[in-house]
Amino acid sequence: METASEAPITGDLRERIVTDLLAWYLQNKRDLPWRGASPYGVWVSEIMLQQTQVATVIPYYLRFMERFPTVKALAEAPFEEVLRYWAGLGYYARARNLHRAAQILVERYGGELPTEPGAIESLPGVGRYTAGAIRSIAFNQPYPLVDANVARVLSRLFGVSGNLHSASTQARLWHLAEQLVPANEPGAFNQALMELGSLVCIPSDPRCERCPLLAHCVAGNAPDPTAWPETPSGKRSIPAVHSSALICNEEGALLIVQRPPHGLWGGLWEFPRVVCATGETPLEGAHRAAREVAGLEVEALEPKTFRAVQGQVAPLTRIKHGVMHYRITLHGYLMRPTTSVVPQEERPKAWATSEALSRYPMPAPQAQLREAVLNRLHTPLHNAQPCLVFEETNIPPYAKKP
Ligand code: ADE
Repeated sequence: METASEAPITGDLRERIVTDLLAWYLQNKRDLPWRGASPYGVWVSEIMLQQTQVATVIPYYLRFMERFPTVKALAEAPFEEVLRYWAGLGYYARARNLHRAAQILVERYGGELPTEPGAIESLPGVGRYTAGAIRSIAFNQPYPLVDANVARVLSRLFGVSGNLHSASTQARLWHLAEQLVPANEPGAFNQALMELGSLVCIPSDPRCERCPLLAHCVAGNAPDPTAWPETPSGKRSIPAVHSSALICNEEGALLIVQRPPHGLWGGLWEFPRVVCATGETPLEGAHRAAREVAGLEVEALEPKTFRAVQGQVAPLTRIKHGVMHYRITLHGYLMRPTTSVVPQEERPKAWATSEALSRYPMPAPQAQLREAVLNRLHTPLHNAQPCLVFEETNIPPYAKKP
């Protein structure tokens, strides 16, 4: 049986949805820095906006565009520098793809974004959503797009049932978006759908009374508009405990290691870190991180006194952070090296003083650890100790690796 969402949208309904939504957009759109930007600016903004909120993206976008104002400037920059401008936005594969794609654009298309069929889609990191956004917003081509906001709006407007992430529901949503996108002002229309999802058709408490599409909306005219989209059962976030060793040497420098170039947080720097195993305490995890990742046996320091303590030590800080479907609590322990051992993995390492530490690109939760440790090292204790000083004199010297 054909459901409402599978039936073609009649010309009249389509016309009214487009007209009402565009009129609302004109009055209510936010003044965002990428509105009216070059195709390159539209591309950068859309990559940043995948998985990241508008308010977070704005300062990153402005700094990025100032440093890399053109495709050529981005292509010629060292990737380390691109990462520095991305650090904190998360999902770092996006930065790597953007950089690689810029180099391809310089090699094959004279540093311009191409408009011919299939060309944009072939760039690394450009999927159907980003291609639709660039084509419609930058080149005014009537291509649809469906992101999380648009999926929610369309599922409510047309009463689309089913798990939003399933292939069949996604296909239905894209088909609806395709039927709606007008030949005139496709970019404004697509942005209006996203803006409606951000400002009015919000997930848990939609402001239906302010919605320009209320008259046409299945969910808005039902007792509970939030019954759409369906929430998949059993898709809860999974808690995970991570632990980092904040290892400080006698000169006050902190040890950081570089992550492998690919995968989550690829190429970024972090304090030696492990994912704690079941039954492993965060403090044991921090010792293991020091041993396995940094090749150091360490002793933990009590953060209030900077004295070495056996057994129970408080972490300097705990940071809560969500990555994909994980709810991570990251513990950071102040530690000092005692002896060196053979690490399990060879990774680039650096002992960074507090000024140098700020220049290394780090994932957001690790940057929070950095802030906590730097604040701690610079905050005088009540006994007026101005910086990290090891008080005992009988500790074994830190044995450097041969
Ligand atoms: N989310 C992703 N792209 C957007 C855009 N261009 N405007 C508003 N929200 C967005």
